[in-house]
Amino acid sequence: MRWEPPACGAAGASAGRLLKNFTIVRFHAKLYTVKVHYHSYDAVIVGAGGAGLRAAIEVAGKVRTAVITKLYPTRSHTGAAQGGMCAALANVEEDYWEWHAFDTVKGGDYLGDQPAIDIMCREAIDAVIDLEHFGMPFSRTPEGRIDQRRFGGHTRNHGEAPVRRACYAADRTGHMILQTLYQQCVAHEVNFFNEFQVFDVLFDESGGQKRAAGVVAYELATGDLHVFVSKGVLFATGGYGKIFRISSNAHTLTGDGLGVLYRRGIPMQDLEFYQFHPTGIYGFGILLSEAARGEGGILRNGLGERFMERVAPTVKDLAPRDMVSRAIHAEIREGRGAGTDKDFVYLDLTHLPPEQIDAKLPDITDFARTYLGIEPKTQPIPIQPTAHYAMGGIPTNVEGEVVLDGKGTVVPGLYAAGECACVSVHGANRLGTNSLLDIVVFGRRGGRAMADYVKSVDHPEVPRGAEAEVRDRIERFKAASGGEKVPAIRTELQQTMTENASVVRTAESLRAAHAKIDELVERYHSIAIDDKGEVFNYDLVEAVELSHLLDLAKGLVVGAEARQESRGAHWRDDFPTRDDVNWMKHSLAHRGDDGDVRLEYKPVIGGRYQPMERKY
Ligand code: FUM
Repeated sequence: MRWEPPACGAAGASAGRLLKNFTIVRFHAKLYTVKVHYHSYDAVIVGAGGAGLRAAIEVAGKVRTAVITKLYPTRSHTGAAQGGMCAALANVEEDYWEWHAFDTVKGGDYLGDQPAIDIMCREAIDAVIDLEHFGMPFSRTPEGRIDQRRFGGHTRNHGEAPVRRACYAADRTGHMILQTLYQQCVAHEVNFFNEFQVFDVLFDESGGQKRAAGVVAYELATGDLHVFVSKGVLFATGGYGKIFRISSNAHTLTGDGLGVLYRRGIPMQDLEFYQFHPTGIYGFGILLSEAARGEGGILRNGLGERFMERVAPTVKDLAPRDMVSRAIHAEIREGRGAGTDKDFVYLDLTHLPPEQIDAKLPDITDFARTYLGIEPKTQPIPIQPTAHYAMGGIPTNVEGEVVLDGKGTVVPGLYAAGECACVSVHGANRLGTNSLLDIVVFGRRGGRAMADYVKSVDHPEVPRGAEAEVRDRIERFKAASGGEKVPAIRTELQQTMTENASVVRTAESLRAAHAKIDELVERYHSIAIDDKGEVFNYDLVEAVELSHLLDLAKGLVVGAEARQESRGAHWRDDFPTRDDVNWMKHSLAHRGDDGDVRLEYKPVIGGRYQPMERKY
């Protein structure tokens, strides 16, 4: 069946509203309790964090666009990003985008694709100015220019010393970017479907080639299903940090976009590379920005020693995150941690002028007061590494098109951007502030590419009843009477991942995690949910989310077991060196119907910078 879109009105941007009036409501009252609505768009964006919103600005007004988001847009996790967005503006000291590119390649331990890194670092400058024109309230120098601060792994002239490259808005940079982009979306009359969770992706294979054809979403307020038939679909759904117990990620970071595509045959790239931010609040994992060290903060062990001097004599506390997290892990393992259990270290800001703390680090110092009862102006803050960012994800090219293999085969109409995507610009370890940059650069590119594509193709074919699998899954969950509960399985998953697959891994620890995940997957089949209702049924939503967490955790662990080397954030105590001969390659994890993982590999795309030992 072909879903013909109603005519686009004179103003394309308002066509979404017009279209809503045409929505067909189908009742399956006799057989099913779920109602189904059908919509037709040219472009659908899934996710309303920075990447999704930036893409929407490019697409809205040009073609009929819907943004579908499981949260209200300004609650997206981009709002939790704190310290900055880097670009070699050279506003406060000499800098060049090529230095930024070098730092990104080296920081990523030579797993990043250099042509993509060049694009990101070159376009960073324009992306910041773009945001400034959108009204972004950057912190300023006394002369009124966008101020810049130091961040881990960002150096002048290929590693001489830390450089001031991160543009920022106090320690609320992500929050300000999210608000700014959302305001622009409102101005562009972007059509939002808030609190709609995408449960499936649709493909049209009628022409002999698989192309994107839309999504099936679940409306949280009503429990209704919505089939969005669309020529283009861009996923910008963020990360999956909730596979770990200690995590800076919000409860909502469950890898939904990745999970949905993975189940539909799209491979996941480089899942084994997961970043641990060095400074999470001890016991909670809540982020305390690296900007604290950019402003002069120091890490100290339980003996009061500044241990990063030993590990990275040039940049010290501003080494890349993988190195700092491992250094903290080593201090704790070797008995130099702090506290009764010697299981944390300190972030010390007590030597900074109080007015600098108030002006530059207001939020994180408040977090320390709120969660630990610590006054950071006079007391060091207990911290520990926290799961923070997925370097891997949905493989894309630099236009945001999803690619399936090393030959660059694309799925027409399918795009991804932001943390859920793997371009790959972050390689094996992302540098701080390159994430906010990634979302605006590749959100913009993906949005533009999708707008061009959808203008050139017909509407896809989608069979009637495309929502059937999702509807059946919902009905099964509601009917199930097994003894397993979602929170228990999720907690055990998070526990084993934090214990066995985090900063430091071994064959033994990964084997333990793998066995535990297999057990949890088995138990998942006996899940029963208590809430059988339609209205804001988070019991049901979390059951679906848990399937993504389990899938992605398994992909991560299998990739990590196979990769017998240490590179960036993937550290194997039993293989403690980088092996460029055998492992300078990206992994691609394919999910089998039984949930098993099959790995293949594709080459890293090189460039100007040859691999060398990472010293800082
Ligand atoms: O430390 C931070 O402010 C985090 C920044 C990032 O992950 O890029």
